[in-house]
Amino acid sequence: MKILMQTGYGNFKENLQIQDVDIPKIADNEILIKVHSVGLNPHDYKVILGEFMKMENLQFPAPVGNDFSGIVEKTGREIQSYIVGDAVLGISEGALAEYCVVKTSDICKKPESINFTQASCLPVAGITTIQAFNRIGGIKKGDKILIQAGSGGVGSFALQYAKAKGAFVYTTTSTKNLEWVKFLGVDRVIDYKKENYLEICSNLDIVFDTLGNQYTFDAFKVIKKGGKVVSLLPAELNAQVAKEFGMPKLISFLISLRPSKIQKLKKEKNALYEFVFMRPNNTVLSEIVTLIKNEKITPVIETIYDFNQAIKAFEHLKKGHTKGKLTINILKDQGW
Ligand SMILES: NC(=O)c1ccc[n+]([C@@H]2O[C@H](COP(=O)([O-])OP(=O)(O)OC[C@H]3O[C@@H](n4cnc5c(N)ncnc54)[C@H](OP(=O)(O)O)[C@@H]3O)[C@@H](O)[C@H]2O)c1
Repeated sequence: MKILMQTGYGNFKENLQIQDVDIPKIADNEILIKVHSVGLNPHDYKVILGEFMKMENLQFPAPVGNDFSGIVEKTGREIQSYIVGDAVLGISEGALAEYCVVKTSDICKKPESINFTQASCLPVAGITTIQAFNRIGGIKKGDKILIQAGSGGVGSFALQYAKAKGAFVYTTTSTKNLEWVKFLGVDRVIDYKKENYLEICSNLDIVFDTLGNQYTFDAFKVIKKGGKVVSLLPAELNAQVAKEFGMPKLISFLISLRPSKIQKLKKEKNALYEFVFMRPNNTVLSEIVTLIKNEKITPVIETIYDFNQAIKAFEHLKKGHTKGKLTINILKDQGW
């Protein structure tokens, strides 16, 4: 089978290669998937560039990609909930391949109302959104929420999710995206090229921070007293970030002794702050599928690439201006 392999850390041209390998064998508790489509996430390219080098122990060549949709090709002897031919979506390390191996904990059945390309956009963006909001106690009807970068892969899911929960949603994006982002149901789209969200938003219940760095610190300026900030990027290495990344307890403790800007901002606003790192979870995947079936979420896709255009797709993603999601079709004839 063909599989995209990372051969080292660095630029995509020199470190990505489609290779021919044997179709993987599965254990009794595993499922072999014939992959139809793969959705790309910034994490995929950041791994190739080596941004997570210190946290992972990659052996090269290493498989690439996570979000996928496809068809069950073979099931291990212990598998009861899936049969050959089931259409599924989920997360598998090394999804950019003709076949991938998964456990039932990382997949769920694809709803019939969306195609394979749309389905492959959902797992990471959807699970991240739901786990992030759950971590801060969920969304209450009428909550005023700022979702940063509403035109991105996560943002375009998160704002539809927040609207489905009855929130009043502000989001930021640039001029070229204003109209279609508005179309997703946002109450106030802020053009970050022309407007300053810090002057528009105040007294918010929640900031959903997809931008990190200074944006995380500034989030505390626009929340109300007792408000909440949930971040997908660590603005500083603090005890909570260390815990989320699974660092050893002693290191987390030593980090907790250092001065933390976020700790100070939290205190000033009596606020809740969480940094969240997505974990695959099939219960959350099922929740995403229910939202799709109830037409609360529409996957947004900017460009569909062919498998042999993977390098081009990663170059596109790295620019950081994707409208919704980028996907790679592994199977040319997708069907439904
Ligand atoms: N912690 C986790 O588990 C987790 C999970 C998923 C993602 N993430 C991280 O979260 C971030 C967002 O992910 P993503 O998939 O949504 O990325 P993405 O799809 O690449 O985001 C691109 C979008 O960001 C917008 N954008 C860029 N700069 C902006 C700014 N200053 N203000 C407002 N919007 C801006 C762009 O709009 P314009 O073109 O209009 O600029 C574009 O639509 C990434 O850094 C990713 O690594 C973390």
